[in-house]
Amino acid sequence: MYKIAVLAGDGIGPEIVTQGVKVLKAAGEIFDIKFDFQEALIGGCAYDKYSKPLPDETIKIAHDSNAVLLGAVGDWKYDTLPPEVRPERALLGIRKELNLFANLRPVVIFDELISSSALKPEIIKGTDIVIVRELTGDVYFGTPKGIEVRVDENGNGVRYGYNNMIYSEKEIERIAHVAFKTASSRNKKLCSVDKANVLDVSRLWREIMTDISKQYPDVTLTHMYVDNAAMQLISNPLQFDTVVTGNIFGDILSDEASMISGSLGLLPSASLSYDGAVALYEPIHGSAPDLKGLNVANPIATILSAAMMMKYTFNNNEAYDLIFNAVKSVLREGYRTKDIYKDGDKPVSTVQMGELIVNKMKG
Ligand code: IPM
Ligand code: MG
Repeated sequence: MYKIAVLAGDGIGPEIVTQGVKVLKAAGEIFDIKFDFQEALIGGCAYDKYSKPLPDETIKIAHDSNAVLLGAVGDWKYDTLPPEVRPERALLGIRKELNLFANLRPVVIFDELISSSALKPEIIKGTDIVIVRELTGDVYFGTPKGIEVRVDENGNGVRYGYNNMIYSEKEIERIAHVAFKTASSRNKKLCSVDKANVLDVSRLWREIMTDISKQYPDVTLTHMYVDNAAMQLISNPLQFDTVVTGNIFGDILSDEASMISGSLGLLPSASLSYDGAVALYEPIHGSAPDLKGLNVANPIATILSAAMMMKYTFNNNEAYDLIFNAVKSVLREGYRTKDIYKDGDKPVSTVQMGELIVNKMKG
């Protein structure tokens, strides 16, 4: 019996997570695995009830589970809250709390959706990248940080805002190992993205990546500056296999990379800690409050996140393939949620998309 914490969150979170849970239940039946699902609040809905976006109860449930399936957090109505209780803070909080330092964001293009991308088919066809994003360091968590008044030479108060881009060598080493292992299990090409021409923190990053590479002689390591990487990612995505980078660069590059696949609604992610510890699975997209309750959101990113859970937490590659291929088949048959719909496709709702995928899994 495995425990899965279900943190649906805000906006479209509950709708897409329901479909993810449906897929996990189907996988459980097919592979004879018993899952115990436990729901908990996170984000704005948690704030409404407990006056904090990440209640202790939720942390406890997450800690006590084998894996967490998360939807999304945030809504406009919380935009004016003080930063420490904003829904996004809960995401950062749970990542830190569970020590989820390694965030894997695969970017694959389904042949069926090549025309949904804004990029030319000949440039993107065959794209298969994993972005390994460090998730618990960098400017996201570095101190000192804040907004404060400093007095200038004329005696006037001027406000300064600042954050600290900081990585310890230990933090760089552990993400490097995850990245090299990931690359080693794939095409054995690792591109480390930094800004070492300007930033000291990146110089250390590059030095350590190079050091660790000696332990993985089968993997070819290259380095690329982040501005160049942003450009290369859409001009020639096929050159990339595994990409490793820090928290903020990874945040930006993964949103950019999602446009190769055609929609933010397609990309899953796994946030991992050390082997055997609880891991968290979530779509890379946000809570899309404008789509809330309309049954139009694309559940595929969440469903593929559930597939990643089967692979990384439950070591069940067969279940991963089953879910992935079910998604492919449904797309091949022309079913599309609104975000990827084009003339001539078969329009389906969130719930219908989930059902179609589950039916395919059951064969
Ligand atoms: C992501 C999101 C989050 C991040 C936000 C919502 C805090 O953009 O998971 O990519 O910046 O990490
Ligand atoms: Mg992001």
